[in-house]
Amino acid sequence: MKIETVAVHAGMAVDPTTGAVAPAIHPSTTFEREPDGSFPHGHIYSRSSAPNRAALEACLSALEGGAAGVAFSSASAATSAIFQSLAPGDHVVAPTDAYYGTAKLLREVFAGWGLDTTFVDMTDLAAVERAVRPSTKLLWAETPSNPLWKVSDLGRLGAIARAAGARFVVDNTTATPVLQSPFKHGADLVVHATTKCLGGHSDVLGGAVVARERGPLLDRLRLLQTTGGAVPSPFDCWLVLRGIRTLPYRVRAQSEHALTVAKFLAAHPRVETVHYPGLPSHPGHEVARRQMAMFGGMLSVQIKGGADAAMAVAAKVRVFTRATSFGGTESLVEHRASIEGPGTSTPVNLLRVSIGLEHPDDLVEDLAQALGAGA
Ligand SMILES: Cc1ncc(COP(=O)(O)O)c(C=O)c1O
Repeated sequence: MKIETVAVHAGMAVDPTTGAVAPAIHPSTTFEREPDGSFPHGHIYSRSSAPNRAALEACLSALEGGAAGVAFSSASAATSAIFQSLAPGDHVVAPTDAYYGTAKLLREVFAGWGLDTTFVDMTDLAAVERAVRPSTKLLWAETPSNPLWKVSDLGRLGAIARAAGARFVVDNTTATPVLQSPFKHGADLVVHATTKCLGGHSDVLGGAVVARERGPLLDRLRLLQTTGGAVPSPFDCWLVLRGIRTLPYRVRAQSEHALTVAKFLAAHPRVETVHYPGLPSHPGHEVARRQMAMFGGMLSVQIKGGADAAMAVAAKVRVFTRATSFGGTESLVEHRASIEGPGTSTPVNLLRVSIGLEHPDDLVEDLAQALGAGA
């Protein structure tokens, strides 16, 4: 079935006891045993499994075309579980521009735990090959990457990981399963911040791992989920699942509108550079055309005149909201270097833009007034 149909129906069933079409939220932490001691509905205690989480996990797995989903209370918790599935002494190859929380986990938490990480530019395949060692157990990719929306070639990275005997993990948060299917390019695991486009309404924090196949790795992730306990609440699962119902339509509209905004910005005299994979001038455009259905709702813009000029533009927006995060219905703008803090390599004149679902004319008009006239 097509992804629109999967998004509407996966993890969804009419309630046989009430006929309710929309799913109920089940807050129960505990589930009744039969007289013979069995659990015919499959649930015992909600840290181990629960109805709303099971529905969400089934849906996420179906969207990515995987074998099973493992939902967490945030993508950072999902990411941590993946690193915890490795052993001290294992080597990880990760992108220099991985989501900064992922890089922070590797540097400040898992380095002390014995994981050794080499950060490389994932668009430089020769550098990735050089970074791989006999102890490399995991290759992490995130494409398009934050905040320059660099595009790395999933098929080629998957081949490098396979040749090295390493697991290939793709953070597919930005592209979503609507635009990109990492399993088709050899990924073993796909990670999502369901906080973003999947939830889609900036009102729920969540994360998930989808495994391509059943086996020891999935079992280990399930163990880390249920014993670690960083699980999403029933209401959080319900919200993400509700968001997913409209995911394909939202992502397509956001991609279309982002292209309109990117073209407007690229032609504006106060703009130094626009980073959007949908522009032919973007270095990753050709790879993105091959591996993505559209180019997504995220872009960044560098304003002429440095940090103060960029901050002044952000200060003037009226339709956009000055806030971090992305993938919601409302368009956001943020001065990325400020949120990443000291040590960031993000250019100080860069504004990161998340396109929501407003009419693109209104977004363009808002940016036009915020940029003002002149060079
Ligand atoms: C690409 C990507 N991965 C992971 C995360 C972490 O998500 P969470 O805040 O749910 O832990 C984010 C958050 O911005 C992200 O952008």
